[in-house]
Amino acid sequence: MRSVKSSVQGWKTAAACLAVVIVIVVQALGLGAVWPQEPAQPWIEEIAKQEKIYRSRGADVPSGYVTGRALSDYAELLPSGFCDALGRLGSSDRWLDIGAGDGQAILDYYAPEDDAASAEKCAWSWGKACAVAMSIEDRRTDKWQHQAASLGDDRIRYLSGKRLRDYSGEELGKFQIITDVYGGFSYTEDLSQFMEKVLGLLETGGVFYTLVQSVHLENGKDNPNTRYLTELVDAAGRDVKVCSWLKKTACVKVGCESKSDWDTPTELINIRKVCSDVSVPRMKLLKYEAGNPPGRRFQLEP
Ligand SMILES: C[S@@+](CC[C@H](N)C(=O)[O-])C[C@H]1O[C@@H](n2cnc3c(N)ncnc32)[C@H](O)[C@@H]1O
Repeated sequence: MRSVKSSVQGWKTAAACLAVVIVIVVQALGLGAVWPQEPAQPWIEEIAKQEKIYRSRGADVPSGYVTGRALSDYAELLPSGFCDALGRLGSSDRWLDIGAGDGQAILDYYAPEDDAASAEKCAWSWGKACAVAMSIEDRRTDKWQHQAASLGDDRIRYLSGKRLRDYSGEELGKFQIITDVYGGFSYTEDLSQFMEKVLGLLETGGVFYTLVQSVHLENGKDNPNTRYLTELVDAAGRDVKVCSWLKKTACVKVGCESKSDWDTPTELINIRKVCSDVSVPRMKLLKYEAGNPPGRRFQLEP
């Protein structure tokens, strides 16, 4: 009798611990308050796997998870016009790089003119604007620490430990340019909320430059055998192109450059904010599969 009672007691303790662990994991993932007795979201395990990718270090970093792209890589990957826009920024302007990884692009922007990186970086752009690197995980290198210390005066800042959605507008301030190279735009579980946040941080007249791979292209020239990574569907389940969705946003002008001849069909996207009353059409998440980048399926809300 005693042993049955104690095993029941042990089971209850284990169940209570498991419930606490679930709550802690859910809260750590920023998914808000969920009661332990509620069924877990079907993709919660995938999001936990994704966290492992963010936290990976050294040999554990998966091969496709690249975190050290140079400014010259940004120049090749982002829509045409990015380098010119960066070069036009003045000392009172601000650039936010969401999903900055090591922050190498910002280091190159501030590289001394006689540095090798300087010859390769975007033509005409050299460090004038204040630059903010944002990454979920802290991937600052010694090089970053040295350059930040020598520049002083908060010219370059590195924010980590949270996702874009967890920062308030007051904390971050406004930006003339926001970039995202295989960062939050490719990784978030809530693309509408992510876009709304980005546009809220842009000054009117400011531009968001990004790209997204393995998608249905605006020019329709993607190979139909593609293994699509980011898929959007309407309420009836029909495919929607990322650019068509973005173009439904109020107060923006969207430009898309479809790259059907890249390894995977990739859309280069620039979004200029033209007035302040931004409103992004909502979508809900239908599928999330951890990866670099993850596989995602969203459905436009009617
Ligand atoms: C594959 S790395 C890309 C790093 C860099 N842009 C490059 O090209 O080398 C992805 C980066 O996006 C960041 N990231 C993903 N989702 C994010 C979010 N919602 N908010 C902020 N950073 C995010 C990760 O923490 C990481 O720094």
